[in-house]
Amino acid sequence: MTTLPVPSSAGTTAAVTNDPATNDQATTDPAATGPGAPAIADGPSGVEIVEVLAAELDSPDAWAIHGTVLLERATHLDTVGDTDLALDAGTTRATLLDPYRRMRRFVAVRDASRSPESVVGRAMVALPQVGNAHVAQVYVGVHPEWRGRGIGSALWDAVVALAREAGRTVLHADAEFSPEPPPGPGALEAPTGSGRIPADHPSTRFLLARGMRLEQVARHSVLDLPVPPEHLRSLHDDAAAAAGDAYRVHVWHDEVPDRWVDDVARLETRMSTDAPSGDLDVTEDPWDAARVRSAEEQIHERGQRYVLAAAEHVATGTLAGFSMVTYPEADADAEGDDSRPAFQEDTLVLREHRGHRLGMLVKTSMLAELDRRSPRTRRLHTWNAEENAPMLAINVALGFRPAGVDAEWEGRL
Ligand SMILES: CC(C)(COP(=O)(O)OP(=O)(O)OC[C@H]1O[C@@H](n2cnc3c(N)ncnc32)[C@H](O)[C@@H]1OP(=O)(O)O)[C@@H](O)C(=O)NCCC(=O)NCCS
Repeated sequence: MTTLPVPSSAGTTAAVTNDPATNDQATTDPAATGPGAPAIADGPSGVEIVEVLAAELDSPDAWAIHGTVLLERATHLDTVGDTDLALDAGTTRATLLDPYRRMRRFVAVRDASRSPESVVGRAMVALPQVGNAHVAQVYVGVHPEWRGRGIGSALWDAVVALAREAGRTVLHADAEFSPEPPPGPGALEAPTGSGRIPADHPSTRFLLARGMRLEQVARHSVLDLPVPPEHLRSLHDDAAAAAGDAYRVHVWHDEVPDRWVDDVARLETRMSTDAPSGDLDVTEDPWDAARVRSAEEQIHERGQRYVLAAAEHVATGTLAGFSMVTYPEADADAEGDDSRPAFQEDTLVLREHRGHRLGMLVKTSMLAELDRRSPRTRRLHTWNAEENAPMLAINVALGFRPAGVDAEWEGRL
């Protein structure tokens, strides 16, 4: 077992273990995960940092998962004005179990009660296990009423130390803003030439002060559902006419048929190389059939379902493009008065098949099926690089409206 001293702002140190065997044990051993779980580090002003464990959601050990959710809702209300993008409990837990992206989550707690309400900050470090094994993705968020006291810094130091310990050399972080600021002295421009974030925002200042560099800005867009059927039909028919008989559309739910699973893996691999990524230090992220099946399991673990529409190139019997959406299995949230949103996952048309309107063809097929499967879903969220003009054009034609921006930051370790 390796241990890593985590400096606290109080000047003391506590040990964080970074040993996979220990982590696995920690997620299954109730004695180690109970409501009295030990702190891994002292934060400022008596705040402690505690690891979130992948406990069953209805067990007392899941307090840190539920605290993460409460914190997320408060943070999103403050940042973007609604809770659509706030992590839910199922997703918080499922991400801790992903074998392709090993994630550890932490909460900052203000007292020893080990209750969801005691959580005032959160952090995560994710280590991709296949492609991008040089990268660590990190995130910290602090309750709006608890900012400016060093909690974000303590959480940042803890997860960056773990990234370094794991041998990662590149850090990626992201931060959301709404709305995108107008051009001018108050805006920091993405080096890609497209997209801006507020220059003097606390998150921007926080990341700049930690040596991070803004690399890319993604546009966050929302589509109100359902798309008026006649509009969807007309876009679909135009795209189908352009694609002609050379392509055939398939629509699948929750499980890709065995016949196509290698093709879907190939499309997912190409997502990592064919979608614009600015100057971010990223490499190909290879997928195979087992990874497609694992991703399907993850979606199920999160309490979600999916629709995937794919375009087959008839002459070669291979997939030329696809689009996928996830939506909540239970279409009402805990309050019961509003539907939870759907999320646009990957969309890709292989370079060699572009120019036949396949992107619009698979997206309209997918949206029509989403409406049939989940008529209560009222909003669909998507993110696209601001410089990804062809994808943005499709989304704008469908009726997506800009809702904010997501800044992609990079740093070196
Ligand atoms: C970014 C964010 C996490 C910072 O959290 P925070 O708890 O306010 O962070 P800190 O208090 O440690 O540091 C913020 C500033 O407060 C100041 N500060 C630190 N300790 C302090 C203390 N004890 N008393 C007063 N101010 C203090 C520091 O000057 C620091 O500025 P710096 O960035 O120049 O060092 C928070 O604004 C947030 O949750 N934003 C939304 C989520 C987000 O965008 N995350 C992106 C990062 S991945």
